[in-house]
Amino acid sequence: MRTALVCLIALMAMQVMVPGSSSASLKVGFYKYNCKEAETIIRNTVAKAISKNPGVAPGIIRIYFHDCFVRGCDGSVLIDSTSSNTAEKDSPLNNPSLRGFEVIDEAKAKLEAYCPNTVSCADILSFAARDSAYYGGGINYAVPAGRRDGRISIAAEVIQNLPPPFLDANQLKDSFARKGLSLDEMVTLSGAHSFGVSHCSSFSNRLYNFNATHPQDPSMDRNFAAFLKTKCPQVSSNDPTVFLDTVTPNRLDSQYYKNLKYSRGLLTSDQTLESSPLTAEMVTMNAKNSKVWSAKFASAMVHMGSIDVLTGRQGEIRKKCRVVN
Ligand code: HEM
Ligand SMILES: *[C@@H]1O[C@H](CO)[C@@H](O)[C@H](O)[C@H]1NC(C)=O
Repeated sequence: MRTALVCLIALMAMQVMVPGSSSASLKVGFYKYNCKEAETIIRNTVAKAISKNPGVAPGIIRIYFHDCFVRGCDGSVLIDSTSSNTAEKDSPLNNPSLRGFEVIDEAKAKLEAYCPNTVSCADILSFAARDSAYYGGGINYAVPAGRRDGRISIAAEVIQNLPPPFLDANQLKDSFARKGLSLDEMVTLSGAHSFGVSHCSSFSNRLYNFNATHPQDPSMDRNFAAFLKTKCPQVSSNDPTVFLDTVTPNRLDSQYYKNLKYSRGLLTSDQTLESSPLTAEMVTMNAKNSKVWSAKFASAMVHMGSIDVLTGRQGEIRKKCRVVN
């Protein structure tokens, strides 16, 4: 009986140490003893950058999503391409639309001066995403840390792991489920589209060539479509950007869900959350209760931040976030 109990405890302890399932080993306050000011340095760097350009906040939160969904939250999205490797950064889903890398570089440079070889790029990005939620939406939360940096970044893996904007609610559900995130977390995290911008090319099919019988997506408000057509001409040499949320474009808030109720979601993947019976009720709840949504957003960001992390002796602490050591 007693041996059985000891065995059970030993088994449970082993479970925690299985590589790959290492989210349990991330810890709040991870740098408390070896780089005390790490989180403050990052927060101040992010604050300064956002005060100059509010677009940095949505930029960094999106980089974080794109990091975590491809090879886990290991900073692989931060690595530059080389002559022998096209990195994630240069996938068409990331280049030219991801922005804010220079803020991560700046935080890293300061941290290398203050406590060299200690704070991973993956953790810097995780803290910076939290700080972006704080300055963009007053959403604050503790970030479990201890991620290590990956050494592999492959452009082709991006499209295999990140959902494209034309998916419907069912497909989005599957895409997030593959990363261990729930349907409610998918709807909650989509609320990040309450700030920042999108290039016209990510949704212009909804304005001009929806399908054989409907040139314009009937699930989009007509006035909204007319407005977007002025910003996104059918023929244009460049690819302009528009705000994802025209009501509060620089604020991370639950306005996004209210827009969906008025058929003013920008991407197909946004409006489908309102038009699909699978998620419609969640949209209504989030539209009604911004405090509940904010709290759910914080938890979902923490959960997303645990996807396939490297910990312990895995990976490395990069010296520069753009290059492997
Ligand atoms: C549900 C599936 C999702 C799809 C299909 C999707 C797709 C997109 C697309 C196409 C854009 C515009 C890119 C461009 O053309 O410039 C965008 C922007 C953005 N996405 Fe998502 N996204 C999704 C989920 C998320 C999640 C989970 C987050 C973070 C928690 C996020 C954060 C953002 C932010 C903040 C922007 C604005 C970026 C900026 O202003 O630079 N998205 N997304
Ligand atoms: C075009 O889209 C509309 C609205 O979603 C739909 O009712 C119609 O059946 C579609 N037509 C074709 C040819 O796919």
